[in-house]
Amino acid sequence: LRVNAAATERSYVMVKPDGVQRGLVGEIITRFERKGFQLVGLKMFQTPKSLAEEHYGELKEKPFYGKLVDYIVSGPVVCIALEGPGVVASARKLIGVTNPLNAEPGTIRGDFGIEVGRNVVHGSDSPENGLREIGLWFDQDEIVEWEQHMTPWLK
Ligand code: PPS
Repeated sequence: LRVNAAATERSYVMVKPDGVQRGLVGEIITRFERKGFQLVGLKMFQTPKSLAEEHYGELKEKPFYGKLVDYIVSGPVVCIALEGPGVVASARKLIGVTNPLNAEPGTIRGDFGIEVGRNVVHGSDSPENGLREIGLWFDQDEIVEWEQHMTPWLK
């Protein structure tokens, strides 16, 4: 176990039900692994409605809130906790902007989506929310702190 894990930035990333249904789980995890971020939590999960409502609580007043909650509980998701320097902003870049039609090719949404209400993946929007969301979606003992060794040729 590392002592300084709390000091390292973390992001909560989630493959949404459409991403799972379409068989994109491996592809999505691969992109974050290849980038160099460390997986510290990973599970498949059927979201209870109360958790979806809490996760998107800040959006309660938005016209799409009800649909968004229904979408998230419509099938299993894959919950991912990532760790690394600058992981929150970097994961958002890899994911692409909210509307997949506007997302750059090469981003996950840019490569795999056409609908804002089916945008494949979620990523935390701030380091504070990264920790908050990981706390919401994972039990403490589901987060694994482990040391990732750099390949010798990088030294
Ligand atoms: S907003 O409007 O500025 O709050 O939008 P944004 O911060 O980009 O998105 C917040 C989350 O709401 C989802 N979203 C939508 N879902 C369904 N329909 C519409 N029209 C819509 N607009 C935004 C968006 O995907 C964000 O969810 P996450 O899971 O964080 O990506």
